Amino acid sequence: MKLVICGKGGSGKSTIAALLAKATVKTGNSVLVIDTDESNFGLHRQLGVELPQDFMNYLGGKDVALEKIMAAAPDYESVSFFDKEWQIADIPSKYYSEKNGIKLIAIGKIHEVGEGCACTMGMVAKEFIGNLNLNSNEVVLVDTEAGIEHFGRAVEKGVDAIIMVIDPSYESMKLSEKVLELSSSIEKPVYYVLNKVDATNEQFMMESISNQDMIIAAIPANTALSVAGLKGNEIMADDSGIENMNQFLMENLRK
Ligand SMILES: Nc1ncnc2c1ncn2[C@@H]1O[C@H](COP(=O)(O)OP(=O)(O)OP(=O)(O)O)[C@@H](O)[C@H]1O
Ligand SMILES: [Mg+2]
Repeated sequence: MKLVICGKGGSGKSTIAALLAKATVKTGNSVLVIDTDESNFGLHRQLGVELPQDFMNYLGGKDVALEKIMAAAPDYESVSFFDKEWQIADIPSKYYSEKNGIKLIAIGKIHEVGEGCACTMGMVAKEFIGNLNLNSNEVVLVDTEAGIEHFGRAVEKGVDAIIMVIDPSYESMKLSEKVLELSSSIEKPVYYVLNKVDATNEQFMMESISNQDMIIAAIPANTALSVAGLKGNEIMADDSGIENMNQFLMENLRK
């Protein structure tokens, strides 16, 4: 099962990815978290691991990947970075961090001023995710950068479903309509996770979303989570909303 997690900036994508990873290993699965957000410096802390070496280096670095893309212009679809299908076990150990059944890889961090746009890493991430062959007990969670640019790079094409995190804001609610439209256009199911809710805004959000079956969890605003987010501490999946969400995904998307 491969899932991509998307949403507005600060809605809680990385937090939900980390919580879901932890809930998923509790049920006896192993998880690969793929960090495709070039400006994400909190996810590895939430998972309690070091930031791994950039997976771009496996390909010789961002420059080498970019040269490959430019050489193929204008037939960008023909570009291929990998010569075989991958399994999680094939990822060299220097490119992942691991703790308690969760592996984390990072594709395409910005390291220096003027490195250029994130298109290269989007193309690498898309092919890597699409090429990944999973065993039945393996789950891939892709944490994305804010907004919907990754849809433009078709990172979503290789996944089984899209999880959108919606925080209590007008922007998030509007973005949820756009994400549904984009996901439908590539025939991928989308599920909503309401995050940072309280009793008042949860009810309003529920009523505003026309297809309520798409809502698979409502995670309360939680002081422990926000303090951990502030301090860069590891977080734990002890929230029943996440356990239920994990159960739903396992039952409905398992192949
Ligand atoms: N349910 C919650 N209750 C309280 N705080 C939360 C909750 N979910 C996330 N947060 C906090 O909100 C902040 C943003 O969360 P997070 O970094 O996961 O968002 P994001 O969508 O990944 O952000 P970005 O767009 O920067 O990648 C963090 O400080 C996090 O601790
Ligand atoms: Mg994030």
